[in-house]
Amino acid sequence: MRTLSGKELAAAVRERVRAEAAARQPRLAVVVATADEASLWYVRSIAKAAAGVGIACDVVELGPHAAPETIAATLAGLSADPGVHGVMLQTPLPPGASAQELAAAIDPAKDVDGAAPLSLGRLAAGLPAFAPATAAAVLALLDHHGVELAGRRAVVVGRSTVVGKPLAHLLLDRHATVTVCHSRTRDLAAVTSQAEVLVVAAGRAGLIGAGHVAPGAVVIDVGTNPTAGGGLTGDVDLAAVAPVAGALTPVPGGVGPVTTALLLEHTVRAAGA
Ligand SMILES: NC(=O)c1ccc[n+]([C@@H]2O[C@H](COP(=O)([O-])OP(=O)(O)OC[C@H]3O[C@@H](n4cnc5c(N)ncnc54)[C@H](OP(=O)(O)O)[C@@H]3O)[C@@H](O)[C@H]2O)c1
Repeated sequence: MRTLSGKELAAAVRERVRAEAAARQPRLAVVVATADEASLWYVRSIAKAAAGVGIACDVVELGPHAAPETIAATLAGLSADPGVHGVMLQTPLPPGASAQELAAAIDPAKDVDGAAPLSLGRLAAGLPAFAPATAAAVLALLDHHGVELAGRRAVVVGRSTVVGKPLAHLLLDRHATVTVCHSRTRDLAAVTSQAEVLVVAAGRAGLIGAGHVAPGAVVIDVGTNPTAGGGLTGDVDLAAVAPVAGALTPVPGGVGPVTTALLLEHTVRAAGA
């Protein structure tokens, strides 16, 4: 089984971004309205990665009790600010706030994490748009490791607007035959075991076992689930699937680092427009 690491690709993307950032002086703003520790850790890691490639990153903390109107007004203000090139809304949000609705306040030209409904619509229509960084990272990782997509059966587990749905469109654009599964899918293993390329983004540790995977399949594990020891584990039961799969991404060290690197690349692109 091949291990499809994301670390080398992420480093190459960061190198490209660093070279371009020097000329463009990009600025990313991340709006945060949560006290969720994992989410705050992720935001700190984005800020650190941005600093490492010469992108200014403002973390705009609104607190876990921020009203939806305040969040929307903040996103709109940042979108209108010519000194800000990328705007991102971190989740989770306070109860009653909808990420999909609020992200509509982000100018699609600055929507570097592809969260705005207009961005998803443009992506679905095959028009230029920023794809969510995670969905883009899956495609980039498949390309980097030379995985053929045209004409192949791809199955995506998960239908969220940040991963599963945009990824299905990206895979379709690359001429894969795409099936999307979710929590109501009957006999998940019967569907996933048809996949030549299986992408799992459910957020359920150990969901995918040996019986879910066709021999030789390429398996991309997007899931990041906290472990009792303070680490991260994917949605794929690594020990069970490794003897069956042809190739598999590690967690951590697979999709995650590429996601952050592409978010920065999107920001540099937004600054260069
Ligand atoms: N590595 C990265 O850079 C990165 C970035 C973003 C997210 N993630 C991780 O990716 C995972 C998914 O994130 P998300 O934001 O898309 O999560 P989400 O919004 O919770 O969506 C999860 C999706 O998985 C489906 N699902 C849940 N349990 C299932 C089951 N037992 N069988 C089949 N489908 C099931 C859900 O179906 P329903 O629609 O029917 O509920 C839903 O569509 C999480 O672990 C998240 O932490 C990683």
